[in-house]
Amino acid sequence: MDVGRTGLPAMRMQENTDEGSTTKRMKSSIRSPLDVQNKAFDEIVTGRRSIRSFTMEVPPRATIELILAAGLAAPFAEAAVGNARDFRRFAVFPQGGQALDSVISFLREKGKAQLDAIQGREPKDAPFFKKLEALANGHIPGLGTAPYLIAVAERKGTPSVEQQSIAHCLQNMWLKATALGLGFHVVSALAMLADEPRFWALCGLPAGVYDLNGCAIGVPALTPPAKPRPTVAEATIWLG
Ligand SMILES: Cc1cc2nc3c(=O)[nH]c(=O)nc-3n(C[C@H](O)[C@H](O)[C@H](O)COP(=O)(O)O)c2cc1C
Repeated sequence: MDVGRTGLPAMRMQENTDEGSTTKRMKSSIRSPLDVQNKAFDEIVTGRRSIRSFTMEVPPRATIELILAAGLAAPFAEAAVGNARDFRRFAVFPQGGQALDSVISFLREKGKAQLDAIQGREPKDAPFFKKLEALANGHIPGLGTAPYLIAVAERKGTPSVEQQSIAHCLQNMWLKATALGLGFHVVSALAMLADEPRFWALCGLPAGVYDLNGCAIGVPALTPPAKPRPTVAEATIWLG
């Protein structure tokens, strides 16, 4: 396709000129597919939220697989991990399953151990302390509060950019979930199990090979308003 300086298709750039009926015809025939696509994209991006409250409805496995496919389509760090087909793995833990119970108990242990380690060194009302306390008590948002907990495992490489790759993967999954009308939130606590051999044994994956993070997915019970964001002008410095 012929592109102009901006990289946009050249014919699309003519929308800004007023050359009568030819341009109008171009507008109606050329504009629509791109505009529809662009509008849909913007709606998904601006409609994305951290959803932390879910209905009892369990999305079908085929729908979850669409979300996983979006995650697999996200970038991976080829320079760090090569072209191995197993650069990324998912483990899906349905609500109420034994496997999820095991994950919760592993995380409780981690929470207790970390709590013991910082006991007396951190004020008890520090947010981090409170989070560890909740973890140690098994109150972990996303674990048992959503129909699915999904672990994303990314092969470790050099340089160590696994968490960046996982973030790309999670973002693709998040946007796909949004496009499908599903709710999603990140479950960072899962990363604490990256060095837990029992977690990897549970997933049938080798220990020490992958880094870890995760998310919870379900049907939204409550969609919060968008959190305030700065404007582009506030957030951007243009340099000459
Ligand atoms: C690196 C990272 C880790 C996050 N971890 C969690 C998490 O563990 N649990 C959670 O509910 N939200 C988590 N979030 C979501 C943020 O709290 C959320 O994106 C932010 O409050 C903005 O709200 P929004 O996602 O609805 O736009 C995380 C976000 C990022 C970028």
